[in-house]
Amino acid sequence: MNLQIDQQRLQNEIDKLASFSSEPAPVVTRVVFSPADQEARGYVNKLFENAGIEVRSDAIGNTFARWIGSNSELAAVGTGSHIDAIPNAGRYDGVVGVLGALEAVRALQRSGFQPKRSIEILLFTAEEPTRFGIGCLGSRMLSGTLTPAAAGKLRDADERSLDELRTEAGFSGPLEEVGLPRGYYAHFVELHIEQGPLLEREGLAIGIVQSIAAPAALNISIEGEGGHAGTVLMPDRRDAFTAAAELALAIESLTCKTGGINTVATIGKCDLFPGAVNSIPSRVKLTLDLRDTDGPRRDAVLQSVLQACSEIAARRGVKIETEQVNADAPAHCSPKIVETVSEICQARGIPHRTMVSRAYHDSLFLSRIAPAAMIFIPCRNGYSHRPDEYSSPEQIATGALVLAETLARLANDGAVA
Ligand code: GLV
Ligand code: MN
Ligand code: MN
Repeated sequence: MNLQIDQQRLQNEIDKLASFSSEPAPVVTRVVFSPADQEARGYVNKLFENAGIEVRSDAIGNTFARWIGSNSELAAVGTGSHIDAIPNAGRYDGVVGVLGALEAVRALQRSGFQPKRSIEILLFTAEEPTRFGIGCLGSRMLSGTLTPAAAGKLRDADERSLDELRTEAGFSGPLEEVGLPRGYYAHFVELHIEQGPLLEREGLAIGIVQSIAAPAALNISIEGEGGHAGTVLMPDRRDAFTAAAELALAIESLTCKTGGINTVATIGKCDLFPGAVNSIPSRVKLTLDLRDTDGPRRDAVLQSVLQACSEIAARRGVKIETEQVNADAPAHCSPKIVETVSEICQARGIPHRTMVSRAYHDSLFLSRIAPAAMIFIPCRNGYSHRPDEYSSPEQIATGALVLAETLARLANDGAVA
């Protein structure tokens, strides 16, 4: 099979997709169901159609582009990622896995390859938690990890419901129909930038993901007492922000003490009410993102954080309430896919290694319903979730090439016709 990746075309498409952003370049901000997300989806759908691939979307906007195999009743091989981007992001996170998969399929088509199993490219809705507070919304629902009833309750910061927003974006139908049965995909493989520094540091072109860390998230609300910044004396205060500050430091220290080197905690949002220079904050809302490669150890840290909330609340006379958004198990990737990718790299002389993904991905949830794995490519300085995120056209093309050959092998795996 003569597989040739059209590196220039793929880069042009990545650059074009980056122009669909609600903030000016080099920033990419593309929140799910925003006008930028809708325009980007329209562009990607056109690219799928131009490649002669059948496209359908489900009730929350997960999009499936299927290249029909010669033995189409067999379970398909899935690939793909997301195109939504957090505020102030770059152009490669997720996008490389969608457009790279499309170029991989086009390269297979150009080579004359005919898959036995169908190959399906997925564009998952809202991998990022920006709008609804929960990551991997589309893949969570596809895998049955988030129930339609729970999804039906999701609201954004403006109190707009998922139902209202998906309908406005043109995605309707019962949420009950989003879930896919185990066996729908024979294999799932996602191409993604590493979002960390290891591949670049070690001079390697490909990372093969063996496991994906377990993420958990909490919403924390602290209620104290507001008042005049000049007249309320320090011993009389029940300042919600100083309680939040103490909690933040407690979380940092508990994560370092109770967790291990792979345990990480981030408070990424902190909203103060009323948010005036000369007013004591009466309410604070925080988000906690806590992750570990080891699920039970992550849960132990979570428990100690909850205890710290009770202790700080009692001592400071404030009320602290927590809502667990998610606490997901880690994923163990398919040894068969890991081995296939490794064989391909070896045969092509591509330097590679196996690794853990500390970021979460849609593959975390696809692994609940199918054997799944991921192919990582390096990114400069390990930067991600920032505008200067960068992988070179050559690095992306190598990823797409390895993905193409992986898809070809998996599409003919166990298929006789
Ligand atoms: C995904 O975007 C993550 O935060 O790991
Ligand atoms: Mn991301
Ligand atoms: Mn991503």
